[in-house]
Amino acid sequence: MQSDLLHRAFAPRLIAWQKQHGRHCLPWQHASPAEPDPYPVWLSEIMLQQTQVDTVIPYYRRFLARFPDLATLAGAEQDDVLAHWSGLGYYSRARNLHAAARRIVAEHAARFPRDREAMLALPGIGRSTAAAIAAFAFGERRAILDGNVKRVLARVFGIDGWPGEKAVENRLWALAEGLLPDADIRAYTQGLMDLGATVCTRGKPRCDNCPYADDCIANIQARQRELPAARPKKVMPEKSTAMLVLLNADEVLLEKRPNSGIWGGLWSLPEIPEQADPCVAASRLGYPATLSAELPRFSHTFTHFRLFIQPWRLQVNRSHTAAEPGRIWLSLDDLDGAALPTPVRRILAALRR
Ligand code: ADE
Repeated sequence: MQSDLLHRAFAPRLIAWQKQHGRHCLPWQHASPAEPDPYPVWLSEIMLQQTQVDTVIPYYRRFLARFPDLATLAGAEQDDVLAHWSGLGYYSRARNLHAAARRIVAEHAARFPRDREAMLALPGIGRSTAAAIAAFAFGERRAILDGNVKRVLARVFGIDGWPGEKAVENRLWALAEGLLPDADIRAYTQGLMDLGATVCTRGKPRCDNCPYADDCIANIQARQRELPAARPKKVMPEKSTAMLVLLNADEVLLEKRPNSGIWGGLWSLPEIPEQADPCVAASRLGYPATLSAELPRFSHTFTHFRLFIQPWRLQVNRSHTAAEPGRIWLSLDDLDGAALPTPVRRILAALRR
């Protein structure tokens, strides 16, 4: 099919495909079109920014059960919000969501804004997320361009270059805008996401099931592995740290991390340089202790670096009194409800076993 014909056929074909083969039972899809509530749509789009649907669903349900509306979220303690995000990763999403809820209460009378600029001014909402919320919650005709959509468009239309590069991204945005249908924006937007997540996948795309199989440049030229082009390689930096697991009976000492930086606002184990002596470090913290085990060293991968963690298990010598501000003694039985970084949860869960 000629390129301009494919441009015109793109949306109708996607909408028809979505209605027949797309996902219709996702928990955030039950909005009433007559009176949509943007809050669950917003929450789901934030959770789905860096996390797959199957992982998100149980978190989404628990979060919504605890914070059923925007005002409840705005009135909650940050710790409580982070505890319900614990394990999902990318915690700035939770801090931004919480900060945005408070701003919406203060500046928009607790009603999620419909205006594009007002939405973009909220922390954590970029161009594609704002468009997805506008399309799903308000039925507005707006283009999305997340990682999945970039892959679909780069393959179908044979767009070369790494989509993280500004010029390539601009080209994809222009394409995404030009392909928008006049009606049925919800099915169209969901169709783009569904096609990217279930058919036009990164690893093994199921081109036999794709509505664009006969026209897709990547499929015709067998270039699915090359499109979209990968980010130019750079080696991932490595860092290392040691963590003190200071135990007093069944309780462990945790420190609240500053809001900025990794694991901002979460409760973590005290960290020391990897070469430092754990007993000396524990004494300096105010908790003289005896080393009971060198636990296995392991690594945790972030977007920009890999962190090697050496945990030390220590038994405090004297029964502690109450922890000072910014520190808590947490019972190993209470791990589930606490806002812990994933590797810390992993270390502590292994102790409980
Ligand atoms: N990814 C991002 N938003 C999504 C949505 N609403 N449904 C499914 N996958 C998504």
